[in-house]
Amino acid sequence: MKELSLNILDIVENSIKSGAKNINLEIEEDNEKDFLIITVKDDGKGMDNEFVRIIFDPFTTTSTNKKVGLGLPLLRESAENCGGGIEIQSEKGKGTIVVVKFKHSHIDRPPMGDLASTILTIIATNPEINFLYVHKVNEKVFKLSTKEIREIVGDMAALRDVTILKWLGDYVRENIKTLYGGEENGKN
Ligand SMILES: Nc1ncnc2c1ncn2[C@@H]1O[C@H](COP(=O)(O)OP(=O)(O)O)[C@@H](O)[C@H]1O
Ligand SMILES: [Mg+2]
Repeated sequence: MKELSLNILDIVENSIKSGAKNINLEIEEDNEKDFLIITVKDDGKGMDNEFVRIIFDPFTTTSTNKKVGLGLPLLRESAENCGGGIEIQSEKGKGTIVVVKFKHSHIDRPPMGDLASTILTIIATNPEINFLYVHKVNEKVFKLSTKEIREIVGDMAALRDVTILKWLGDYVRENIKTLYGGEENGKN
């Protein structure tokens, strides 16, 4: 069973490989309505309908160094086993939206894992991408935009600076903790 933060990294990596310049990640958790929804929206090269229809086939991949693409098929299985599912909308030349839904309290729902590290990895390895991360947990919201950070600190090079990345890592970690009511990786 894969932690959700690693699934999120997979989905975002697909967006990066598709040449996206803008990637929005939204995570919405609601304990009352009992759902956890992950949405990744990109403005990459997109896919035509025919490709989207076969995307959950393990042999569907455009990767040149391997013959199977298991990211999306395994994620679908995991979501469907947890009272949810996955939906992909894409338009060639425009971009893609991936929505993954889980029943929050489902016994088999994978834990979130180290989301702060995932967010930092995405930012540190792709400083030129406008990455927007919005995370809602019940009534609380945390939002981080690399476009805004770049505007504040002046340039893109800053997102390669270890001191700034270290600060950013602590900032994201603290805010995620607050979202979960002060508990690390709050498995609530
Ligand atoms: N956001 C996206 N934009 C464009 N193509 C995508 C996107 N996500 C997935 N794909 C296509 O679907 C294929 C399968 O994805 P995945 O299951 O993650 O396997 P892999 O990434 O290992 O190939 C990718 O190879 C890629 O061609
Ligand atoms: Mg992939």
